[in-house]
Amino acid sequence: MSLKDAAKAVRENAYAPYSKFKVGAAIRAASGTVYVGCNVENVAYPEGTCAEAGAIAAMAAAGETRITEAFVIAGAALPVTPCGGCRQKLAEFCTPDVRVTMATTGGVEQVMTMAELLPGAFGPAHMEE
Ligand code: THU
Repeated sequence: MSLKDAAKAVRENAYAPYSKFKVGAAIRAASGTVYVGCNVENVAYPEGTCAEAGAIAAMAAAGETRITEAFVIAGAALPVTPCGGCRQKLAEFCTPDVRVTMATTGGVEQVMTMAELLPGAFGPAHMEE
């Protein structure tokens, strides 16, 4: 299944009774396996989690740590770009050249690299003395 179809399908399972804004994310890991996630909201609003975070958790749980491609889809007029926190989460497992496709359910797509999404990312090198 393509990343797009995987993201579209998992979006249907998004639990978003508060925002009504369903998001699906699919990431391809180094092995070629596709991992998916959807947003899961909570009545205690800050406890909700983004679609990207769910996909990353599924990948890590399966024992993988390298993302080669990502796809995010939502039902909006403009392609939804990952939130700031998710950019940092993605950057942990992506090289700067990894392509992230942002799409609307209506068919609009925008592609950006990880470096474009999070320029000047905080990384392990910043922790060196
Ligand atoms: N959301 C995501 O899942 N991913 C994004 O990239 C942007 C926002 C979710 C969080 C929340 O459940 C809803 O969309 C509205 O912000």
